[in-house]
Amino acid sequence: MTDADDPAQVDPQLFDPQLVDPPLFDPVAPILAKKDGAELTDDQIRGMVAGFTAGRVAPEQMSSLLMAIVLQGMTRREIATWTAAMIDSGVRMDFSGLTRGGRRLRTADKHSTGGVGDKVTLPLTPLVASFGVAVPQLSGRGLGHTGGTLDKLESILGWRAELSVDQMQRQLTEVGAMVCAATADLAPADRKLYALRDVTGTVASIPLIASSIMSKKIAEGTQSLVLDVKVGSGAFMKTLDGARELAETMVALGAEAGVVTSALLTDMSTPLGRSAGNAVEVAESLEVLSGGGPADVVELTLALAREMLEASGLPDVDPADHLRNGRAMDAWRAMIAAQGGDPDAPLPVPRHTHEVTARDDGHLTSLDALAVGQAAWLLGAGRTKPGEAVSATAGVTWHVGIGDSVRRGQPLLTLHTDDETRIPAALEALRDATGVGEADARSDLRSRVLERVPFRRG
Ligand code: URA
Repeated sequence: MTDADDPAQVDPQLFDPQLVDPPLFDPVAPILAKKDGAELTDDQIRGMVAGFTAGRVAPEQMSSLLMAIVLQGMTRREIATWTAAMIDSGVRMDFSGLTRGGRRLRTADKHSTGGVGDKVTLPLTPLVASFGVAVPQLSGRGLGHTGGTLDKLESILGWRAELSVDQMQRQLTEVGAMVCAATADLAPADRKLYALRDVTGTVASIPLIASSIMSKKIAEGTQSLVLDVKVGSGAFMKTLDGARELAETMVALGAEAGVVTSALLTDMSTPLGRSAGNAVEVAESLEVLSGGGPADVVELTLALAREMLEASGLPDVDPADHLRNGRAMDAWRAMIAAQGGDPDAPLPVPRHTHEVTARDDGHLTSLDALAVGQAAWLLGAGRTKPGEAVSATAGVTWHVGIGDSVRRGQPLLTLHTDDETRIPAALEALRDATGVGEADARSDLRSRVLERVPFRRG
């Protein structure tokens, strides 16, 4: 052995202790094993996840393993170990000790796999909290065409997304409703892995999506969780079979970790409600909280609220009551004010709008969710890389729903933006987004909720 082979003799400037400590783990073995379709051992999974998080496993090694997982899949045991390794990379929050008026508060949360026009977290969080359940909604910012909840709420004057753990505990105790940014120490392995998956074509994998979502939700410490798994052109999962497998995998992971978890599979072939963007989605959420709003947003909000309330021991209450009598709106106002926002401030308005009109008479037969999402993103509502600013005013609104009759020349969509130069690209994205033709008699009776995967206890 030469001096240069002995770590103790190596120039300290060149010596990276992370590369040699611990020295016994070989990242190439799990890559080769998964490439050949073998099941990884718990030690291999933990070694890869912990090693990548700490910088001992190189990004090119992890991206090789990720691609092998995309192609070969993982067993339920592998997924559970991968999820546990990501949880163990950071802290686990604990809201189990929260009390109000001497009574222990139950916690319930919801996660959506992301869809165009999906603003349901905004009315749902205060609605469930108005029944005395604490909702610790730790959210993210959007990347790509599906906007982030925090980006939407930041269009409210003064509202801030960052809360310390003490502030979270206080807000949950006093108000019950909270939507805030996840702290950096919550499943940091997922943050690093997701960034790598995003640039290596390895996002679309049921084991990787399930473990990514559930590691964050289990680490968040909620007692119960409802998952809204979207299906259709505007969603990750394009088929019902794929969405069902994802939902069942996540429900099992939740149950094994002691979180009472259920899932709804919901339709995302057309965008939800009548708006996609930031301030425009807040405005629509306020309509729902005022007892109005588009029927599909109300339906989905109530269906998810019933799941959360049932999981929290309140199966017999009717959440629709609190949309009608203003109690959900009161909880919204308290939630916004607690995070520095002014619930009475007018929402920002765009400098430019542009209407898209119907080319024919008939009925609206299609409105493609992906195209609408891309148009909203091109208008400035989303970002192309993490950390980029988004425009509060950018978005798309549509004035007719599937099955509604339309007349040639009638406005179908309105584009909203502060930057007029973005409009042509958005129009191009929308070129084939709408269909006008013969009415489908059943279209207005269709429910957004396609299937339910019920609670499983661990
Ligand atoms: N959302 C997540 O948090 N992770 C994924 O992998 C996909 C969607």
